[in-house]
Amino acid sequence: MLSIPLTDSTFRDLRDYIYEKCGIYISDTKKYLIENRLSRILQEKNLNSFEKYLELIKFHSNGKEMNRLFDAITTNETYFFREPEQLDVLVNEVLPAVSSQKRNIKIWSAACSSGEEPFTISIMLKNKFLNNSQFEIIGSDLSESVLHSAKQAVYNSYSVRNVDASYLGKYFAAQDKSYILKDEIKRTVQFTKVNLIDESTLRLIRNVDIILCRNVLIYFDTKAKQKVISNLYNALNPGGYLIIGSSESLHSVTRAFRPSTINKVVLYQKL
Ligand SMILES: C[S@@+](CC[C@H](N)C(=O)[O-])C[C@H]1O[C@@H](n2cnc3c(N)ncnc32)[C@H](O)[C@@H]1O
Repeated sequence: MLSIPLTDSTFRDLRDYIYEKCGIYISDTKKYLIENRLSRILQEKNLNSFEKYLELIKFHSNGKEMNRLFDAITTNETYFFREPEQLDVLVNEVLPAVSSQKRNIKIWSAACSSGEEPFTISIMLKNKFLNNSQFEIIGSDLSESVLHSAKQAVYNSYSVRNVDASYLGKYFAAQDKSYILKDEIKRTVQFTKVNLIDESTLRLIRNVDIILCRNVLIYFDTKAKQKVISNLYNALNPGGYLIIGSSESLHSVTRAFRPSTINKVVLYQKL
């Protein structure tokens, strides 16, 4: 594949456009990332310069073009039972406390990529509470291609490497090199497209009791984090909880939540 040159000034224009649309901030040192990830799109479209591509997405783009851009620039790394300490606290401490107060509990995995996170929660709930019909689980992401995979719920060995053998046998059907999630778990999660920076799409999700927004804030700068966190705050019920990735922090982002720690896991509660 021949590489197409990206000038510093067009890189900055592209970077600013991406930032405006989804909050992902690409620093100067990551210029190669744009070059690598977008070159394929340019070639498919028979465009011989990034300037032409920029013009296309800015002025002649339909939703499809934007989705293709989002698919290309997002990093979708995820797997079942990621950061299990947080999930244990969620299922063993937070949920029993919340479910003693109310019957129907809404859990939202915001930026869920290909669905491993919300499906992990569903598996854990099934084992802890047996009847998981009192829980509504929503999974959302910006990228349509990962949401498509989430709806298929067919995984590879990398994705399930942390799944306990007993769960693997119980909730997945192995076929060739794939692990097909069984219907009893698959049907418990509703997937929808949500851009966390975009208030208008976020307004569709309200009255949430628990939000997991893990390993996505790292792609935003402080200003975008503030916007996203404020959007998530508005989606939560009073008393609801937010859990972010264990390497992420809300320091210098917001003071609206009351932080607490259980078993070294930080929880942010809406007052
Ligand atoms: C690294 S994955 C994290 C997946 C999962 N939460 C986990 O911790 O395993 C980050 C996800 O955030 C999504 N993302 C990035 N920017 C977003 C935005 N503005 N709105 C919604 N999702 C976004 C990406 O598409 C990607 O799937």
